[in-house]
Amino acid sequence: MPPPAPTTPRIEASGLCRRFEIGPRTIEVLRGVDLAVAPGERLAVIGASGSGKTTLLHILAGLDRPTAGVARLDGCDLYAMSDGARAALRQRRIGLVFQAYHLLPELSVLDNVLLPARIGRIRSAEFAAVRRRARDLLERVGLADRADHRPNELSGGEQQRVALARALMNDPDVVFADEPTGNLDSESGEAVLRCLFELSAGPQRTVILVTHNPEIAARCDRTVHLRDGRIESSPIAPIAPH
Ligand SMILES: Nc1ncnc2c1ncn2[C@@H]1O[C@H](COP(=O)(O)OP(=O)(O)O)[C@@H](O)[C@H]1O
Ligand SMILES: [Mg+2]
Repeated sequence: MPPPAPTTPRIEASGLCRRFEIGPRTIEVLRGVDLAVAPGERLAVIGASGSGKTTLLHILAGLDRPTAGVARLDGCDLYAMSDGARAALRQRRIGLVFQAYHLLPELSVLDNVLLPARIGRIRSAEFAAVRRRARDLLERVGLADRADHRPNELSGGEQQRVALARALMNDPDVVFADEPTGNLDSESGEAVLRCLFELSAGPQRTVILVTHNPEIAARCDRTVHLRDGRIESSPIAPIAPH
């Protein structure tokens, strides 16, 4: 029998470079990032402030075109497709959690969670099920009784749990979280992390978590370090995804 085909990485970066031009200055933030993340793997990306973690995350999430190199989702080159196709792919398959929550202040908590589904134009027959899912996600992050509140009536930790429910709304294959506890005290941060790991549990959902906190990184399956614009090779063999 032939050996089994190697699994295509869910997320793959090869030779990624990102340079910013600011007036006469050029900053080379990423200088050849190579990375492969398996379906279902939980990866922490750790690096000093300014090392390019957010830049890398945005490229891998289809939000920012690299200067050179390729970023793939399930083998598909994210920046070879049209902007519209990439936006549709992002909307269906990627969930994002930012350090500063980025909830829309004029919408209720429930409507914030529903937003990713609305962008995809819900058919009226599906609407009840979509609302049920949003309410169910709010319950799972412990905020069922806050559905009708505005974001500014919630604490930072609560807002981040709403952002997490929103990221999970379309049942994405990959969740990117950029320093999700960076603005929170340790107790609210812990609640956010617990929700992140619980909601993204399952054999297929990949999590890429950016942090500068080694204790948080240690809760992922594998940690890579971003330094001098590259991923430092890890001396420890990666743990097989669960
Ligand atoms: N849009 C941009 N224009 C110019 N410089 C940028 C831009 N985005 C990021 N940078 C610069 O790239 C470097 C890395 O930023 P970032 O990816 O945010 O790092 P980290 O998330 O690790 O703190 C920083 O020096 C930052 O100022
Ligand atoms: Mg950052």
